[in-house]
Amino acid sequence: MKPFGLHSLISPRNPDDLLEGNWSKTPFITHGLNESVREIFDLPFLQSREALIRCWSGFIQAHLPDIADESSSIEVRAEDAEKLFKNRMGLLFNNVEKLSPFLRSAVEAVRSDLGLPAATYGRCMVYATPDGKGTAPHFDQNINFVLQLQGTKKWWLASNESVENPTERHTIGQPITPELSTYAPVSFPTAMPEGSMTYTLEPGSVLFVPRGYWHCTEAAGDALALNFTYNQPAWLDVFLAALRSRLVLSPEWRELADGVGSTNQERRKRARCEFDGLLLEHTTDLPNWSAENILDATEGASEI
Ligand SMILES: [Fe+2]
Repeated sequence: MKPFGLHSLISPRNPDDLLEGNWSKTPFITHGLNESVREIFDLPFLQSREALIRCWSGFIQAHLPDIADESSSIEVRAEDAEKLFKNRMGLLFNNVEKLSPFLRSAVEAVRSDLGLPAATYGRCMVYATPDGKGTAPHFDQNINFVLQLQGTKKWWLASNESVENPTERHTIGQPITPELSTYAPVSFPTAMPEGSMTYTLEPGSVLFVPRGYWHCTEAAGDALALNFTYNQPAWLDVFLAALRSRLVLSPEWRELADGVGSTNQERRKRARCEFDGLLLEHTTDLPNWSAENILDATEGASEI
C-alpha cells in the first residue's frame, strides 16, 4: 500500500488530475473513504471526543454560543471541555498532529504532494460539534481538507465575490482586521451569499474548502471531524523571506533604523537619507535576482 498522502484524501481521484486544474480555488467532495484513511480512523485518540479529551494536555478552544466562531471563543482545560460540550459549545483541538508521528508525517506528505512551499504551516485540527450547532458564516486564509470522523455535518459554501486571495480570515458581522481593510471592500455581505452550495459530510467524507470561500456548518447529531489545514504562502511571502535572508547578511541593513520616528526634523532627514542610500544600493542588486536561485535555496534544487 502507498504511504499516506494527498491520494489518500481525494480517492478515487488522481492527484495529478486534481493538480492539473485550478485546484486551490475549487471546492470538491468525496464520500465513502475507507481503506485510504484507515490509519486515521484507527488512531486511538480519534475514536471519540471523550478519547481525545482524555489524551489532551493543553488548552482546548470552546466556541461561545453568541456567534459560534473562533473569533468568540475561550481556552479551557481538558477537564472542563466535556461539560462545555454538553452545554452545546463546539470544541476545537489545535495541532492534533502533535499526538501522533503518523499524523505529523501525513501533514508533511500532503503538503509536499500539493507542491506547497517548504515553509507552509500545515497542521491538523479536530472539531467536536454538538447536535444542531456549527460555525457562523466566515472565510479563512487557509485551505482545509475536512475528513468527517463521526456524525453528520452540513456545509454551505459560496464563492467570495468581495475579496480575492485574502490573507486573513473574516466572520460575517465581525470587525474587519486592519490588514484586510487595506484591500477589502468597506463592507462585506451581512449573511451567507445567495446560491451557496450544500454538502453533507458523513463519516469517510472529505470536503476541500478553498481559501477565501464563505462557509458555515451545522451538525446533525454530535459530530467529530479532522481537518488538514495549510496556510497559503503567496508570492509576496516568498519574496519577503528571500529579501530578509539576503539583507540580513549586510551590517548596514542590520543597523538600527535610528531617527525614523524622531520629531526632530534634522534627525528625521538624516534617517531618510540613509534609507534612500540603502534602497538605491538594493535596486542595483535586484536585477541579479532570479526565481531559480531563490527557490533552489528555499525548496532545494530541482531538475526542471
Ligand atoms: Fe473555517
